[in-house]
Amino acid sequence: MTQDELKQAVAQAAIRYVAENVPAGSIVGVGTGSTANCFIDALVQIKDRVGATVASSEATKKRLEGHGFMVLDLNAVTSLPVYVDGADEITHSLEMLKGGGGALTREKIVAAVADRFVCVCDASKLVATLGTFPLPIEVIPMAQAYVAREIVKLGGQPKFRDGFITDNGNVILDVHGLAIDAPVAMEATLNAIVGVVTNGLFARRGADVLLLGTPAGVRQMVC
Ligand code: 5RP
Repeated sequence: MTQDELKQAVAQAAIRYVAENVPAGSIVGVGTGSTANCFIDALVQIKDRVGATVASSEATKKRLEGHGFMVLDLNAVTSLPVYVDGADEITHSLEMLKGGGGALTREKIVAAVADRFVCVCDASKLVATLGTFPLPIEVIPMAQAYVAREIVKLGGQPKFRDGFITDNGNVILDVHGLAIDAPVAMEATLNAIVGVVTNGLFARRGADVLLLGTPAGVRQMVC
């Protein structure tokens, strides 16, 4: 199976998950990236069960609206039963590294509001330790050089994501070479650097369910 076929398979599994576990008429939180895009396209199959959606990026909002879904401002939402999103890496305890698409801050905010985070990814994303994929950090532009120096002190090698501005008007540093043996502690340490908006470690609030696309089928793991 190709990686694309695995993404399509997990998207279908996520549709079944939402249909079976989320009350009809609920608001569905939707992530960002190629796997989330497969989910958005498949969500049309259960459109009548979806009350409205919340998007984690402008790109996702546009795609959802293109399919005729209502996209709400998160501030107008008091209950979000489920959030479906991909990941760049995920461990067996469902801690994630995200933000390859640069939407990490809005993803983390929507995930914080959601009752359940359903992560959808192909088997290549399951890792023993996070950090082989460079860790994205969203930074206020004027703090970029300072934050980069602080990251070097922590042992990381930050690389400015050239030509990329987040939906929030900020920049991204992709950090290589960090030893992320304690993701919860590292998430807090990085977020404590002045000028950091947030980092791509989703450890304090990891996923609740993982739908993992493997050549043998979609495997469901729960935390
Ligand atoms: C975007 C993300 C994505 O979830 C992550 O990059 C995975 O993307 P894809 O499904 O395209 O592999 O965090 O900010």
